[in-house]
Amino acid sequence: MTTISLDFSQQPARSATADGLVIGVTEGPDGPLPAPGSQDADAALDGTLAATLAALGATGKREEVTRIATAGRLAAPLIVAVGLGPGEEDLETLRRAAGAAVRSLAAGHAASIAISLPCRDEAETEAVALGALLGGYRFDRYRSSANGANLSLTVLTSAPGAEAAVRRAQVLAAAITLVRDLVNTSPSHLYPEVFATQAAEVARAVGIEVEVLDDSALASGGYGGITGVGQGSVHPPRLVRLSYRHPDAAKTVVFAGKGITFDSGGLSLKPPKAMEAMKSDMGGAAAVLAALQAIAALRLPVNVVGYLPLAENMPGGGAQRPSDVITIFGGKTVEVLNTDAEGRLVLADALARSEQDSPDLLVDVATLTGAQVIALGPRISGVMANDDKVLAGVVDAARRGGEQAWPMPLPDELRKGLDSAVADIANVAGERVAGMLIAGLFLREFVPDGVRWAHVDIAGPAFHEGEPYGYTAKGGTGAATRMLVQIAADVADGRL
Ligand code: BES
Ligand code: ZN
Ligand code: ZN
Repeated sequence: MTTISLDFSQQPARSATADGLVIGVTEGPDGPLPAPGSQDADAALDGTLAATLAALGATGKREEVTRIATAGRLAAPLIVAVGLGPGEEDLETLRRAAGAAVRSLAAGHAASIAISLPCRDEAETEAVALGALLGGYRFDRYRSSANGANLSLTVLTSAPGAEAAVRRAQVLAAAITLVRDLVNTSPSHLYPEVFATQAAEVARAVGIEVEVLDDSALASGGYGGITGVGQGSVHPPRLVRLSYRHPDAAKTVVFAGKGITFDSGGLSLKPPKAMEAMKSDMGGAAAVLAALQAIAALRLPVNVVGYLPLAENMPGGGAQRPSDVITIFGGKTVEVLNTDAEGRLVLADALARSEQDSPDLLVDVATLTGAQVIALGPRISGVMANDDKVLAGVVDAARRGGEQAWPMPLPDELRKGLDSAVADIANVAGERVAGMLIAGLFLREFVPDGVRWAHVDIAGPAFHEGEPYGYTAKGGTGAATRMLVQIAADVADGRL
């Protein structure tokens, strides 16, 4: 397994001993311009950087990578100049630039990388450190020839607060890496029991409380959603409850994450192509687990409970049937017309159960609908809520945490589409319109009375199927992890 370490140093770029030195290039009006952080390297090269970059055809456009041999003039043999685009760099540009540069160097088997991108304050330093750590991510559990190389990163910065910035980046990168690893793991190796055991290990490592309900406890406890979805699999379901408490906390936030370790659709079987990415259907649960890990490491002054309803949705002989009626925790009944709309069933149990925690804010995260991807594409999460301030606050927390999310409505007139002929509610509507919103309307029915609630659909963002970009590799992305940590921080300081 590749391990990545990161530290910071105030040493000048020219004397940084590393396999590669990363600098930034901006897109100037008359050609590429070395960015802040590259002055010392440029001086060691007698001010030739801009001309060399131009001669090599560099433009400075975002994530463009240009390599320059230093021929003994710097301690590092290679400069990797990464594009920052025109003008003022925002934090995401810095994260992506650091990620792209580290990704390109790590692919060439560099073992040590010094990074001298713009790090003028704490926020920029954190962005560069986080992008670098995430850009170095590799999942090689299943490679028979894993190279096992360790990657050592050094951020060159003299910004005030660099130490805290690097520490935060390490905590967030560890959390996102945990999510990526869980999502990327073969579903034959990550079923509910295994996931629950891993969650318990994380809880023990960071010193938070954990409780695991097994399949018989779920059945006797009235968790009809998790039980129904899990009953078609040879791997029985679990419900994990994590609890982080801070002595100065005034508020409690509850997170619930959809944890379908594989979604075949059940008897409403998916076509083969649609199943290929369905090991990622536990991305919400993984993000909740990882957010709790990070929140505990950062010691945020807020109480946080995390629910991971875990099940494998399979069409075995015991599987639930379209038209089965199940009873969700708390007593509401659901007619299951489509067994592929299973995420809302396991989440309904978790949302209803959260009443026992008296949440000041309840947020669920789920790879819930293909309709989210149709509406917002693969990178932007959809947010729905039962309160306009919560809706705006969650979207804003996502942005400040460095993620993309967009507010979506919960139109009351669509609720009647979920009316059932035999039960309190059906799990799908007859019409195919607004699938993401219908799912949100279904979940809203199970939110405890008076509780402020938001639902985040990460069906697209949880799993990256295209070519790698910035700090995002193919596969699990870690989506929603930073958003959840930011939400907890915002509840802690009364902003949300
Ligand atoms: N896990 C899927 C949603 C999904 C689709 C996640 C694509 C990631 C990428 C979910 O359980 C599902 O199958 N939803 C159905 C709901 C429908 C039956 C109402 C869907 O979106 O098609
Ligand atoms: Zn499904
Ligand atoms: Zn699903």
